[in-house]
Amino acid sequence: MKITAIILAAGKGTRMKSRLPKVLHKAGGRTMLEQVLHEVRAAGVADCCVVVGHGADEVRQSLPPDEHLSFALQEPQLGTGHCVQQALPHIPADCEAALIVCGDTPLLTAQTLRALIDKFAATAADGLLLTAQMADPAGYGRVIRATDGGVRAIVEEKDATPAEKLVTEINTGAYIFKFPALQSALSHLTNANAQGEYYLTDVIGLIAAAGGHIDTLTAPDPVETTGVNDRVQLAFAAAELYRRKAVELMLAGVTLPDPASCYIDQQVTVGQDTIIYPGCQLRGETHIGSGCLLDGDCIITDSTVGDNCKLTKCVLDQAEVGPGANIGPFAYLRPGTRLGQGVKIGDFAEIKNSVIGDGSKVPHLSYIGDTDMGSGVNVGCGTITCNYDGVNKHRTTIGDGVFIGSNTNLVAPVAVGEGAFIGAGSTITRDVAAGALAVGRAKQKEIAGWAEQASPKAAAAKKSGK
Ligand code: UD1
Ligand code: CA
Repeated sequence: MKITAIILAAGKGTRMKSRLPKVLHKAGGRTMLEQVLHEVRAAGVADCCVVVGHGADEVRQSLPPDEHLSFALQEPQLGTGHCVQQALPHIPADCEAALIVCGDTPLLTAQTLRALIDKFAATAADGLLLTAQMADPAGYGRVIRATDGGVRAIVEEKDATPAEKLVTEINTGAYIFKFPALQSALSHLTNANAQGEYYLTDVIGLIAAAGGHIDTLTAPDPVETTGVNDRVQLAFAAAELYRRKAVELMLAGVTLPDPASCYIDQQVTVGQDTIIYPGCQLRGETHIGSGCLLDGDCIITDSTVGDNCKLTKCVLDQAEVGPGANIGPFAYLRPGTRLGQGVKIGDFAEIKNSVIGDGSKVPHLSYIGDTDMGSGVNVGCGTITCNYDGVNKHRTTIGDGVFIGSNTNLVAPVAVGEGAFIGAGSTITRDVAAGALAVGRAKQKEIAGWAEQASPKAAAAKKSGK
């Protein structure tokens, strides 16, 4: 069966009270629209038309170009039925069925959408509606059934009679229709209702009234069908997505002693036998190897960490960490950081746009920026690469096996040759040859008996202990 998905994403989302279009709010690492599209695709539907309207350009640009993805424009936004009408010209002529999903239901899973498609393929229904039993159905369209149990209509909350409001079976906003039946019903929609909108939900009543067959599938878990209309529901959706991700990782061999305290985005991967202690946030395109210890409070964004690393209370942003590294506590790896194997970056060290070779150590209180560092380098406490002259940024090059004494300033552009030594407290402004010792500081002076001469009284008092 040739299926095209239609995702409704043109609404303003007034109840979000936001400048950002509703479907661009993130839950669990993806925008709601990305999440819905991801699940639609995972359910096996490739062709998709997203209907945009409010913030159309922003919504379009939020998704990467894709030959199976089209956009329809709904301007002005006159309701969910009007929204689907705008998609029709974008649907291929050979389309047999349309899967319709709201862009604000990020908890719907591919499994449930697949079950909807499979049931539709197995029955002769003109429309199949995903419903849910909600203990509190407030805000949702209610499913109204005839005495024989068949679906008669969907009634929106604002149009419902007191008796209809008591119905707990709700419309989730996910449907699949035979395409011709949908087209014909859409052409008969009116906006004679409490909100003056063209409701997609009226399509159900129209098909049923014309003698068509509407079937339903009940969602296995009503949580899946939560629609996000405000930020309280957004937080609920995010918490559920983080919970699912933690469960997925634990079942795949990752230890999370307190899963609710960690926020791991949907796209993240973590290798087997890695342990993630409380307070860790793994965001975006982040990939953590196996056998790692994330020893609490790590915020890692768009970064890759190799196997068997130990990270404690650190922040990584667009960094690559080789296997066996030891990072933190209180380390900050900024974009463009690439660490080799077995590197140590210790407390209060910041690394930016720098390559650090295998086994090198920056153990304490350092800033290393725009630097190419070889392997086996020891960077003394308090070392700083002075990469910025107020106008331009310059690079520092440090060869293999270099020893840099504590509290050194390396004024870039500067190169330190292989195996060289730098004396503690140096300010290095010129290149250092391989194997040399460079000391760049004022020679120590000593004035014997200075204290006695400068203040005889104070010296005498000190001697007598008064
Ligand atoms: C809708 C359903 C309701 C269902 C609920 C499930 C209708 C009339 N009601 O109500 O039966 O229980 O979803 O969550 O369909 N949108 C547009 N263009 C518009 C209007 C809306 O693209 O003109 C989009 C919105 O961006 C949103 C989706 O459609 O992604 C749903 O719209 P929303 O206003 O949230 O509908 P609900 O009141 O939640
Ligand atoms: Ca909604």
